[in-house]
Amino acid sequence: MRKTFLPFAKPAIADDAIKGVEECLRSGWLTTGPKAMEFEQVFREFTGSDYAIAVNSATSGLHTALLSLGISSPDEVITTPMTFVATINAIIMAGAKPVLADIDRKTFNINHEDIERKITSHTKAIIPVHFAGRPCHMGAIEAIAEKHNLYIIEDAAHALGAEYQGRKIGYVDNHRKIAVFSFHPTKNITTGEGGMACLHDEETAERMSIIRQHGMSKGAWNRYAAKGKTHYDVLIPGLKYNMMDIQAAIGISQMKYLPAFNRRRKEIVAEYLRAFQETEGLILPPEVFTGDIHAWHIFTPLIDTNRLSITRDEFMKLMEKENIGTAFHYQAVHLFSYYAKMYGWCKGDYPNAEYVSARILSLPLFPTMTDEDVNDVITTTKKILSQRKR
Ligand SMILES: Cc1ncc(COP(=O)(O)O)c(C=O)c1O
Repeated sequence: MRKTFLPFAKPAIADDAIKGVEECLRSGWLTTGPKAMEFEQVFREFTGSDYAIAVNSATSGLHTALLSLGISSPDEVITTPMTFVATINAIIMAGAKPVLADIDRKTFNINHEDIERKITSHTKAIIPVHFAGRPCHMGAIEAIAEKHNLYIIEDAAHALGAEYQGRKIGYVDNHRKIAVFSFHPTKNITTGEGGMACLHDEETAERMSIIRQHGMSKGAWNRYAAKGKTHYDVLIPGLKYNMMDIQAAIGISQMKYLPAFNRRRKEIVAEYLRAFQETEGLILPPEVFTGDIHAWHIFTPLIDTNRLSITRDEFMKLMEKENIGTAFHYQAVHLFSYYAKMYGWCKGDYPNAEYVSARILSLPLFPTMTDEDVNDVITTTKKILSQRKR
């Protein structure tokens, strides 16, 4: 058994991030200002999108995106049941109704044929989630959106560094699309908490920028910095969703390391895939289609309950006893009590999401994992599975 606990995820913070935060603290400017603007510029350059709006989480980014597109009651927004509840909550908090399309069991991503079946006269947008960092079939989703005149808000929380058919996730080249990233500490880069929306349309970007700061015509930087004008107007009722410079300072550093972080993630995944190729009781997670790049935010095999005498939750407990952390992404959202009650969603409604959700788990995956850590995960997983064969 390992002597120390191996978490399932851990951020890698470089010295220049700490220096950036210190500079920021010493400068006296802590909230949204020059560093947030610099971080947005880094994202414009990285994704190739014309606009990047820094916010304090992906949840607020998704919410602001919906609000800025004027989506509210009685509009419907189609998304996947295999997501974090933030995706659903953002839709509900915008006043719209979440509608689910089942996933494809082979990719764990939303099934575009089911999207089309769920479209009604109220449907305004689709939120595809690039689950685990594996790009959705954007070609098919974009064709549906175009045919039915819908917006696409990509929940790219997992997908920083991913590519769909040679196109970076986050590159947005039309006014009907917005992509939102998360910088929560388990993600491919972190700012502590934070998010970024990338888009093409100037007016929508302007609205997002205003909504993230109370709906005011000017943010703090334009009011309190030298030559700022203290008076402002309120253009729309907004929220408090801006990213602080302290967070952006971490993000600017993190983006320099993203290629190396993602390379190491890929290396670890390759080792897992090689080692678990013949492992009975474990179904390997889907890899990408030719031409796509997986960001490997999480490594999510399925526990093959048909071949084992234990459930996924029991497996997770046994791993914990061995000092190895795992995580559960996600309970299919339609099974949570509030949503089930509110929208009449029942067990059996989304069979593929239920199948995956009952078996899925995330093994440790983060860039500073050593080869020894990786080896510990492999040998422990194999040991537990071989002891619990049916
Ligand atoms: C798929 C997905 N969407 C949205 C979010 C929300 O991100 P944040 O924590 O930055 O609000 C997460 C975070 O875990 C996520 O995994």
